[in-house]
Amino acid sequence: MRKIFIFDTTLRDGEQAPGASLNEAQKLEIAHQLQELGVDIIEAGFPISSEGDFRSVYTIARKVCRPVICALARSLKKDIDAAARALAPAKKKRIHVFLATSKIHLKYKFRKAEDEIIRLAKQAVRYARRLCDDVEFSPEDATRTQPEFLYRVVEEVIKQGASTVNIPDTVGWTYPEEFERLIKGILENVPNIGRAKIAVHCHNDLGLAVANSLAAVLAGAKEVHGTINGIGERAGNASLEEIVMNIRTRRDIFSGVFTEINTRQIYKTSKLVSSLTGFLVPPNKAIVGKNAFRHESGIHQDAVIKKRTTYEIMDPREIGIVDSGLVLGKHSGRHALSQRLKELGFNLKKSQIEKVFREFKKLADKKKEVYDDDLVAIVEEDIKPRKKKITLLEVKVLSGTKIEPEAEVKLRYQNKVIVTNSQGDGPVDACFRAVDKVVGFRPRLLQFKLEAVTSGKDALGQARVEIEYKKKTSSGLASSTDIIEASLKAYLEALDKII
Ligand code: KIV
Ligand code: ZN
Repeated sequence: MRKIFIFDTTLRDGEQAPGASLNEAQKLEIAHQLQELGVDIIEAGFPISSEGDFRSVYTIARKVCRPVICALARSLKKDIDAAARALAPAKKKRIHVFLATSKIHLKYKFRKAEDEIIRLAKQAVRYARRLCDDVEFSPEDATRTQPEFLYRVVEEVIKQGASTVNIPDTVGWTYPEEFERLIKGILENVPNIGRAKIAVHCHNDLGLAVANSLAAVLAGAKEVHGTINGIGERAGNASLEEIVMNIRTRRDIFSGVFTEINTRQIYKTSKLVSSLTGFLVPPNKAIVGKNAFRHESGIHQDAVIKKRTTYEIMDPREIGIVDSGLVLGKHSGRHALSQRLKELGFNLKKSQIEKVFREFKKLADKKKEVYDDDLVAIVEEDIKPRKKKITLLEVKVLSGTKIEPEAEVKLRYQNKVIVTNSQGDGPVDACFRAVDKVVGFRPRLLQFKLEAVTSGKDALGQARVEIEYKKKTSSGLASSTDIIEASLKAYLEALDKII
């Protein structure tokens, strides 16, 4: 059996998605969850790109010990030095060096000849190896590079000590059969390929990132890059949960390979990444979309009751989706609640369960039925509150058909409690304007979306807000039974990242 190493780049390429910015504490929280999921390598960031990225990589390297922690660097000495410094506290570390090799990049981006590229790649890998034993090299835009030149680059960087060569489909250009041929070509034409592992890194511009990655695995690639929920530059990266579940589900096709992912942590990881990045998971998204295991047609429902596998090729429990059929309400006790929390993947102390129980009772008084999403929201808000620069303490709104909507907002900002009010085009706009007065600037609202995430009249409303300020976009996601409160919290979450 051949192990496929899972290289997660949610915190680097995933975070490059416009509007997906994460702060240091949020990145650390995701890194801890990726460790629970069992990924082999976490690409924690690109240290030279900003002070914040450097600090995040450093903190993750210090605190997350089981996976290899990786940092990205261009083929430049200053980038490699920054990566090595940021990785210093890591138990297991890797420097990932990249340099474009396609004709179009050589001609327009670098104005350099092929020999010069080879020289720079060799120099960068040699230098990185002086600082770190584990070096991965990526010839960027590999799928649009002349195969003969690609073979030469790969051979040379292996000679300099690269132990992994990653073949990126940077612009999502390739096709499964074509990519399979390229990987086989590398295996057949690079004489020293036995000394390194082949990795692949696919983008989703034509919707083929997962298919291409899997074709590469079948051709002999041993490491796959990807992100949770497939987030990333432009149309995103290959979605890791889809790759892992393909390998696990289609044993007939992937009979010789396996991953060491704890699939029961997939759903929880997906939810965490979605809530911290503010990127909603589309309902029809494979594996983790909320409709992925729902059956609407009566014929399907009937068949699933008789035999689940008639219409379900995976067991949702394998992904960590637990539906015990148990609906909690105001008469439910501590035991049922703690059982449910455990099934949802939360290992809480007795005192924490007690705290959740109190909040749960308050919510159950307002709503007849309490769903999993409600419980997750309680745990995230009350048990694992994230340090925030700006928090909502209270909101009051006055709105109606014949009055101009007005909001009074009480916030904690810079360790002070501040109360302001403002009018607006609607109650939500009035709230946002009141907050803008407190922080002293007015971001541009790029998107505002509201939807019910649970069912019934007393459903939880989930708001997503995307804003832009000084060319930085950021988004926030929040839920509440009160849609004004959800909208305001989502706005504050997005603003918090900008502050
Ligand atoms: O898409 C890409 O080519 C990359 C490289 C840095 C590996 O993200
Ligand atoms: Zn990429």
